[in-house]
Amino acid sequence: MTDSPVVRLEKDGDIGVIIVNYPPVNALGPGVADGIIECLNTAIADASIKAMVLMGDGRSFIAGADIRGFDANRKRLPIGERTYDVMDRSPKPVVAAIHGFALGGGLENAMGCHYRIAVPSAKVGLPEVLIGILPGGGGTQRLPRLAGVQTALEMIVSGRHVPAPEAKTLGILDEVLPEGADLRASAVAYARKIADARPLPRIRDRDCKADPSVFEAMRKSIARRARNQKAPYNCIAAVEAAATLPFDLGMQREQELFLELVNADEAKALRYAFFAEREAAKLPDMPATARARDLNNAAVVGAGTMGGGIAMSFADFGYDVKIMDATQEALDRGMARIKSNYETSVKRGSLKEDEMQRRFARIHPVAGYDDIKDCDVVIEAVFEEMDVKKPIFAKLDEVMKPGALMFSNTSALDIDQIANMTRRPQDIAGTHFFSPANVMKLFEVVRGSKSSPETLVTAMALGKRIGKISAMAGNTDGFVANRSRAPFNAEMVILLEEGCLPEQVDKAMVDFGYPMGPFAVGDLAGLDIGAAGRRRRAAQDPNYRKLPIADKLVELGRYGQKTGAGWYKYEKGDRTPYPDPEVAKIISDVAAELGVARKTFTDMEILRRLLFSSVNEACRILEEGKAYRASDIDVMWLHGFGFPRYRGGLMYWADGIGVRDVYNQIASWHQQYGSRWAPSRLLRELAESGTSFRDAKPAPFR
Ligand code: 3HC
Repeated sequence: MTDSPVVRLEKDGDIGVIIVNYPPVNALGPGVADGIIECLNTAIADASIKAMVLMGDGRSFIAGADIRGFDANRKRLPIGERTYDVMDRSPKPVVAAIHGFALGGGLENAMGCHYRIAVPSAKVGLPEVLIGILPGGGGTQRLPRLAGVQTALEMIVSGRHVPAPEAKTLGILDEVLPEGADLRASAVAYARKIADARPLPRIRDRDCKADPSVFEAMRKSIARRARNQKAPYNCIAAVEAAATLPFDLGMQREQELFLELVNADEAKALRYAFFAEREAAKLPDMPATARARDLNNAAVVGAGTMGGGIAMSFADFGYDVKIMDATQEALDRGMARIKSNYETSVKRGSLKEDEMQRRFARIHPVAGYDDIKDCDVVIEAVFEEMDVKKPIFAKLDEVMKPGALMFSNTSALDIDQIANMTRRPQDIAGTHFFSPANVMKLFEVVRGSKSSPETLVTAMALGKRIGKISAMAGNTDGFVANRSRAPFNAEMVILLEEGCLPEQVDKAMVDFGYPMGPFAVGDLAGLDIGAAGRRRRAAQDPNYRKLPIADKLVELGRYGQKTGAGWYKYEKGDRTPYPDPEVAKIISDVAAELGVARKTFTDMEILRRLLFSSVNEACRILEEGKAYRASDIDVMWLHGFGFPRYRGGLMYWADGIGVRDVYNQIASWHQQYGSRWAPSRLLRELAESGTSFRDAKPAPFR
């Protein structure tokens, strides 16, 4: 029957089945909406068709508008002529048959239908806020009418994906099919069953009422996490319009609020971040034959804070994992810590008790290497010292079954030295988790010189499987994330020598959009960890820029939250950082000893001192071929360090300032401060040629 390249209409007896086929996820790309309309009109005009089904081919129903279309300024159909308007006017019922994802414009189309059924594994949601916009196809007007204002607000402001069974409870779906049911056959049967039911249930005809206080309460509840952003607030305003205006006026208001967002910096940065994450998954120099292996059972060696967090990452995504440590005592302590972390989540309300029990039960403490030898993958997460890690890899080599993958959770150590402890360096790579490992999403895969393509592809896929964002780094001190961050860490302490206080630096960075200031983060992670790295680097490099203030704190036993004092002081049982006059005194004493004149800094100066130093190092990483692309570094900063997503990432943000201005400032600081600010070759070349960081061509990966 009707046959556009991306949407087709098939007949199943008296039911017209409209099928979207725009791989990979059936986004509403060019021709899709037009195709759906054409098929609807054909089916409406066909007297032999009594009802229609709308469904997707391949892996999904419809994943939403084509996000690339926003940057291309692709024209959208005007209100009144869109797919859901045609469905609203249709004299025949339409049933949405959902599998995979019905997101954004996908759910909006489903809500334009008169009925919605889904397979149990399907997910629905309006995640537009995550790309800096709002549901602009009636989602903010229909969802509150369908599921109630409170539910709609929560879903639209969080953007979360709702599993089909929950969506049924919320009233979004009419039916969830039994496991294993044939979606198309079930949808056709359903359509036949309701084909003659009249009047047709149109969501636009439903009432929408709410207590006005819910909107203010929502604004208050997001004030901290949505600071500097507009989209979450426009989402609330649009739902408010649903509760206060007739449907058609609400649609117009939604449109106005949508247009305020779609081309704003916030939305552009968030779109960039969306595609940067997907790009990071691609390894352009791997042979096409390299395939990710199936990993069916995993183990973690080391039950410390990191090992425990890694085990939790597996358990949280439904995988059983074994965990071991050198002594029973250390293992017991580790398991107790995991339990207490889960209990805290239950107390805070972010995890249900029964779900916690299920997750905890997936983590299996085992006595020793004999119990893990048959695992497909093992992640070593012991203390960050080469001399501790090396014998463990020698032992793993001895016991692990042939073909087992062995990954080291190191944040800086040479992965080749570790791999060379074994007779199978091809099966070894680094997998660097960020602290807390069960929370932070970055999964930095470190490529050793002998890591096989299959090992690397499998490591990248493993990260995705446990809910992380994988990105590849070359084997260089600190790899990509920590190496690019190191100058920032140094500069923030040097700023103290020159006149800042930790609380001032932290405030500047929090105002910029970080969830926590870098000094407060340091106290959380433990200041002793950085000190060990500084000692190692100072021993290797006579020109290493020492950080006497940071060293002094560690010398005094101020390790951060765990000792009740670090850059800040802490009251017992309270994680609030309180500025500490003792720290201010240490700072001014050290500055006096160094003979540094103290001055005042603006927030902008602080921000640029910290971030420009890292941009310069990131350029060095690219010129050495230790990362595939600048956008991978952005992804690492977003998911490893809490860089505000609505600013795109370190390099995207620097592009917003302009490569020439960044270069000029760095060159001037080079004059003022000396070698640590020497502009990198790539930075200079980019400035000279006027090329953006994003378009920089890194050296081939090595
Ligand atoms: N537009 C354009 N491309 C999209 C897309 C979209 N909405 N959704 C996914 N893609 C692309 C990805 O870029 C990727 O391309 P690549 O293979 O070239 O890298 C490919 O589809 C597969 O995507 P994923 O790797 O993300 O696949 P997953 O299976 O891991 O995840 C997904 C699938 C959950 C659907 C995820 O892709 C996703 O979250 N997509 C975005 C959904 C979204 O935000 N929808 C709302 C769009 S805005 C909208 O609808 C506005 C409307 O209200 C007017």
